[in-house]
Amino acid sequence: MFLFLGLLLAANSTIPTMLKQILAKLPRKSSKSNPTYSEGTNVTTNAPNNGSFTNTCNVISSRLNVVKKMSSSIFPTSNGEVIQPHLQFKDVQNSERPKLFISKLNLCSTIYDFDDQDKDNVEKDLKHQVLGEVLDVLVSESIKLTEPAMSAICKMCGDNLFREFPPKYSDSPRSETEYDDPWFDPAWSHIQLVYEILLRFVSLSSLDPKIAKQYIDQPFLLKLLNLFDSEDPRERECLKSVLHRIYGKFMVHRPFIRMSVSNIIFRFVFETEKHNGIAELLEIFGSVISGFALPLKKEHKMFLSRVLIPLHKPKSLGNYHHQLTYCIVQFIEKEPKLMSVVINGLLKYWPVTSSQKQLMFLSELEELLELIRADEFEKVMVPLFRRIRCLLDSYHFQVVERALFLWNNEHIQHLITSNRQVIMPIVFSSLQHNSKNHWNRTVLNLTQNVLKMFHEVDEQLVISCQGKVEEDKSATTAVAEGQAMTWTALKSCW
Ligand SMILES: *[C@@H]1O[C@H](CO)[C@@H](O)[C@H](O)[C@H]1NC(C)=O
Ligand SMILES: *[C@@H]1O[C@H](CO)[C@@H](O)[C@H](O)[C@H]1NC(C)=O
Ligand SMILES: *[C@@H]1O[C@H](CO)[C@@H](O)[C@H](O)[C@H]1NC(C)=O
Ligand SMILES: *[C@@H]1O[C@H](CO)[C@@H](O)[C@H](O)[C@H]1NC(C)=O
Repeated sequence: MFLFLGLLLAANSTIPTMLKQILAKLPRKSSKSNPTYSEGTNVTTNAPNNGSFTNTCNVISSRLNVVKKMSSSIFPTSNGEVIQPHLQFKDVQNSERPKLFISKLNLCSTIYDFDDQDKDNVEKDLKHQVLGEVLDVLVSESIKLTEPAMSAICKMCGDNLFREFPPKYSDSPRSETEYDDPWFDPAWSHIQLVYEILLRFVSLSSLDPKIAKQYIDQPFLLKLLNLFDSEDPRERECLKSVLHRIYGKFMVHRPFIRMSVSNIIFRFVFETEKHNGIAELLEIFGSVISGFALPLKKEHKMFLSRVLIPLHKPKSLGNYHHQLTYCIVQFIEKEPKLMSVVINGLLKYWPVTSSQKQLMFLSELEELLELIRADEFEKVMVPLFRRIRCLLDSYHFQVVERALFLWNNEHIQHLITSNRQVIMPIVFSSLQHNSKNHWNRTVLNLTQNVLKMFHEVDEQLVISCQGKVEEDKSATTAVAEGQAMTWTALKSCW
């Protein structure tokens, strides 16, 4: 037995490293097909697969049967009887099972110190086994859930999950270039089962939200939402499933969840710039937005302009940009007239120092311009192409190249040529300059192709733009203010 435990411990200690390696290989941005939440209907999504959990639990519980007799936890029931939590359900009478279930839940509320690997090993193993038994009950729906049982489930989940995270070593906000090792909760073997129990509980088809909302209440939800800041990616993944399910099932809580998430994001953008779970929260919101009814409520539009658009500001945008773009596209697909609001927002938060961020903005911009309608395009084209001219003047050839790629998109090219009288005068001098002088062959070539296209479409306009550039040049040389002019032009890009 001791040899066995020793082996188990030795094996356990390698697990975090292995997991890290596995997680490092996983794509960070998982975009699974999400359910959508239509307003006014309940959503039942497919149940999570339980095979692996149940199997693990069975193996462990048979191994740990030896340990049972050592447990001393005994809980009195309401009428004075006691039921030992380690009894098996099959060994007690039907009428006693709900009591035994609660007794097991109470046992699981004890928290053990996992920072010390040698402490309370017998108790830890027993709790692990009992958590598995609780999960089995929920999976098989073999016991009817009474209100005291619901209350005990929520209390047990809260006791285990609602905890302080350890302080971070480094104080700097996470950014694209920093690859800090995340913290992995040493108590995960318990925590994971608790999440699985919570997920099962809120997914039960027999669970009446009208009753359960007394236990899954607003304080419970707030504490659950706070956990999204966990550094442990496995935990955030579990939370995502749980919150999805709660949002789908508890319609009464939907406005509260939306408001609370807005508050979290708001604090992140304008105060702390530190939060580990923005990507996960946005993934949930992608589904939430696609369920919004038309016409969009004012509250929902405010979420776009006050929460989603400012999310472009933080340095760590790269951690959640993919999910953010997805949410924004969902809004535009619901309501194309929001396009100009979004593009003006992008222009407002356009990054000037980080070329990495500029590239992200450009890829989002291209995705949006592919969807833009002509009337919305006309509303934003002047400030938009002023910004693009600045990008064409950038020191970073990748930024210039990415900006020129916009011309390769047929829809965008069509919009540009239809509005060439406005757009060409804005970008012409930068294009002409690059077509003659740019040191990078690829950029040079791309620029020449764009100019060639303008030539083919409207030679007259190109000639008049050329004339204007010459005029400006001689005027500035004459007054010998060349540098001042360049300075002014540059400043308009900052
Ligand atoms: C939502 O689900 C509950 C119970 O699961 C049910 O009583 C209710 O009628 C459902 N509401 C709708 C709109 O389907
Ligand atoms: C979950 O487990 C139960 C009982 O073991 C089984 O009947 C059910 O089919 C399982 N569901 C899935 C999705 O694996
Ligand atoms: C020019 O740009 C292309 C495309 O970004 C890049 O692959 C290439 O390395 C650049 N050339 C030089 C000399 O840096
Ligand atoms: C420049 O572009 C032309 C036409 O698009 C292409 O045929 C040519 O190979 C390119 N040259 C370089 C050096 O990239």
